[in-house]
Amino acid sequence: MQRGSRSLRQGSNIGWTSSKMLFYEADDLLDGITYEATRLELETEPGISINKVRKFFSPSNSFEKEMEVKLEEILEKLEYLVKQKDALCLREGTGGKPSSHRGPTTSRVDESDVYGRENDKEAIMKLLLSNDANGNNLRVISIVGMGWVGKTTIAQLVYNDRRVKEQFDLRLWVCVSEDFDVFKITKDIFKEATSVACDDKTPNQLQVELEKQLVRKNFLLVLDDVWNEKYTEWDILRMPLKSGAPGSRILVTTRHEIVASMMSTILIHHLNALTEDDCWPLLQKHAFGGRNFNGYLHLEIWERKS
Ligand SMILES: Nc1ncnc2c1ncn2[C@@H]1O[C@H](COP(=O)(O)OP(=O)(O)O)[C@@H](O)[C@H]1O
Ligand SMILES: [Mg+2]
Repeated sequence: MQRGSRSLRQGSNIGWTSSKMLFYEADDLLDGITYEATRLELETEPGISINKVRKFFSPSNSFEKEMEVKLEEILEKLEYLVKQKDALCLREGTGGKPSSHRGPTTSRVDESDVYGRENDKEAIMKLLLSNDANGNNLRVISIVGMGWVGKTTIAQLVYNDRRVKEQFDLRLWVCVSEDFDVFKITKDIFKEATSVACDDKTPNQLQVELEKQLVRKNFLLVLDDVWNEKYTEWDILRMPLKSGAPGSRILVTTRHEIVASMMSTILIHHLNALTEDDCWPLLQKHAFGGRNFNGYLHLEIWERKS
């Protein structure tokens, strides 16, 4: 046995490098098997194949034994890595959704803390306030950009703008985040629209009631931080929303363009990082706690030169 265990003890410091090495080992093993299979196939002439194949898989075949030992070793190492992963509280993932430690967002924002973004805000405002010439009563507009770039902040700015308050009968803010639970989101929309608890309602009652609440209302619904890529879920969610007045809008924030496309977005606003000029006052604020910056003028000159 003990080949595998020995390797594990030697490799007590198994980490990322070890995972990669393990991958290469598994890859080598597969190469070996493929090579042996090909060799056997080439050697195998019609008429003598059965015996050769039997021989290959027989317990006395040394190649097979060797492969078995290697496979056991790899499995043992994999088990060890899985235990390490659990001990370190690491999560499996596709590289897509990072675990979010941010709580649910709300529409509240301190505008004096927000720098730049005037152009982005105005571009989105234009899309929200524009007349709906083709009678489409459920326009979806998406803000797409990487995490922390400021999508939610822009949505908050827009949501609290005076012109938006004047234009829409209802403004609804729902933080969707990782779980696209249609029932839960519908509940939140209902509560936002009515300020009435609805926890005892069935999904059907909820949808019917929400539809009634929104009839001929001009609403703006913000769906913040959407990850869902399944069209069917989205289709169910938007069913009661269609009763709103023409001119109603859904503003989505998401990291992925594919999510925006799936939601029949008519326009995507790509949000890029803040410009250097906008970052500078932000840095001043966080680095110097909003104190007078005059004493650090040399830093500004240095920063701007570099
Ligand atoms: N223009 C800005 N000026 C100042 N702070 C900002 C600005 N945009 C975003 N932030 C701050 O950066 C952080 C991430 O912004 P957020 O809007 O939540 O990003 P996203 O929704 O893209 O993940 C928040 O703490 C937010 O207050
Ligand atoms: Mg966000």
